[in-house]
Amino acid sequence: MQLPKPNFNGEMTLEATLKNQRIIRAFQSDPISSEFLGQMFWAAYGGTESDGFKRSAAWGGALYPLDLYALIEAGHVGRHIFSEAKALGLGSGIVGVFEDQRVIEILGIPQAHEPLLIMPMGKKG
Ligand SMILES: Cc1cc2nc3c(=O)[nH]c(=O)nc-3n(C[C@H](O)[C@H](O)[C@H](O)COP(=O)(O)O)c2cc1C
Repeated sequence: MQLPKPNFNGEMTLEATLKNQRIIRAFQSDPISSEFLGQMFWAAYGGTESDGFKRSAAWGGALYPLDLYALIEAGHVGRHIFSEAKALGLGSGIVGVFEDQRVIEILGIPQAHEPLLIMPMGKKG
């Protein structure tokens, strides 16, 4: 799926996203747009340089993808997703406690991968 390119000129400041941050646990049922998805994936760990190597989140030893120091890196990526959702006027939750095996089965995640965080996103209910 080709996602739209990110917008680098959002209207909400970083300070405003931090001041107004709240975990959202209830969402409207409207679908979210592909523009929103593209923006979220970019904020999470999208490319920032034309060489395609540097990313929007810091990585231990610049060893992409998320493998070393995985918990710390997931924290960085999760923070970007959470703040970007707020900057776009939407909301995000953070779920760190879940049954790993059930999530792997339901989402069809390869067994070698370990889900670290679930972040529901959408319009606040
Ligand atoms: C790493 C992490 C894991 C979390 N895991 C859960 C979770 O499993 N279930 C849940 O309901 N909330 C979870 N939360 C949300 C916190 O409980 C939330 O930040 C706290 O209740 C403050 O909420 P507020 O933003 O509404 O003030 C998690 C937050 C973080 C940062």
